[in-house]
Amino acid sequence: MKRVVSGMRPTGYMHLGHLHGVMNHWVKLQEEYQCFYFIADLHALTTEYKNPVNIKNLTLDLFAEWLSVGLSPEKSVLFVQSKVPQHAELHVYLSMITPVSWLERNPTYKEMREELKGKDLSTYGFLGYPVLQTADILVYKGEFVPVGQDQLPHLEISREIARRFNYLYGNGKKVLPEPQALLTETPKILGVDGRKMSKSFGNAIFIREDPESIKEKIKIMFTDTQRKRRSDPGRPSVCNVFTLHKYYTPEDKVKEIEEECQRAGIGCVDCKKILTENLLRGLAPIREKIFDFLDKKGELMEIMEEGCRKAREEAEKVMAEVKEVIGF
Ligand code: TRP
Ligand code: SF4
Repeated sequence: MKRVVSGMRPTGYMHLGHLHGVMNHWVKLQEEYQCFYFIADLHALTTEYKNPVNIKNLTLDLFAEWLSVGLSPEKSVLFVQSKVPQHAELHVYLSMITPVSWLERNPTYKEMREELKGKDLSTYGFLGYPVLQTADILVYKGEFVPVGQDQLPHLEISREIARRFNYLYGNGKKVLPEPQALLTETPKILGVDGRKMSKSFGNAIFIREDPESIKEKIKIMFTDTQRKRRSDPGRPSVCNVFTLHKYYTPEDKVKEIEEECQRAGIGCVDCKKILTENLLRGLAPIREKIFDFLDKKGELMEIMEEGCRKAREEAEKVMAEVKEVIGF
C-alpha cells in the first residue's frame, strides 16, 4: 500500500471545520493507504513555545478526539511527533541542504508572521517550519499528503527538498519520494460569524462542546445575509446552516428544506431548530467516546505509546538509509 502522511498541530480542540474538512478525509484514506497520522507538537512549539504546557495537554485531548471520530490504531499508525526523534534527526540533515531563500519566500511564512504579529516569530525554528514538515513526511517516505489549499506552498518546498536530496546523495536513484498533495473537495464549513471556522476567531463549534452551548451558537449563526425578512426567499447554496444540514440531516429532509427555503416556506429559526436537533444527535456518540477515552487515560496512553513505537521502527529504517547514502 502507498503511504500517506499527515499531521495536525495541537493548538485547540477539534471543531466542525476540522471534522468535515480534514478528519473524515483522513478516516477514509485509511482504507486505501498505509497512513501515518501524528500530532505535530513540535510544529505547535514553533508558535507556542512560551506555553508548552498547553501543547502537552491538548495532545492527549486531540488523540482522544481522533480515536473517537474513526481514526483506527489497527489500520493506521497514530502517534506524537516529539516521541519519534527521527523527525528531528532528519530535520537536521535536510536543514543542511535547504537554501534559506526557499524558506524566506514561502508565502505561508510571510502571512503567518503578519497574522501573529503579537508573537515573536523571528526564530530559527519558525523559519524552518517547512523543513521539519518535510522531515515528517520523508522520514516515512510518504508519497501522499492530505492537506488543505493553504499548505500547498509547504508541500512544494518538500518536493524541492526531496529533489535536492536525491540530486546530491541519490547517485541517480530516487531515495526519497517527492510527496504529492491529496486535496479534498468538501464544501467549506464557516464559523458562526460567516468567516472561516477557527478557534482564534471564537466562531467555532467544537465536537466535544456541550449541547446547550452549541444551541446558542446555532441561534446566532449567519444564514443567507440577503434574507432579511421571513417572507424573503432564501438561497441555501450560500447558507452555512444549509451546508451543515447536508452533513447531519437525512437527504430527503435536506431536499425539502432546500425547496422550502427558496420559496420562503420555512423560516431560518425553524430551519436552525431542525439542524440543532440533528447536529446534536450526530455528535452525541462522538462526544461520549471522547469523554470515555479521557476517563481511561491509561489505556489512551498505551494506544499512543504503541503508535509511537511503530512509527519509530519505520522511521529508523529510513534514517539508516538516509545516513548510508550521505556516507555516514
Ligand atoms: N503544517 C500542518 C498544519 O498546520 C501540520 C503538519 C505538520 C503537517 N507536519 C506535517 C501536515 C506533515 C502534513 C504533513 O496543518
Ligand atoms: Fe439558511 Fe435555512 Fe434560513 Fe434557508 S431557511 S437561509 S437554509 S437557515
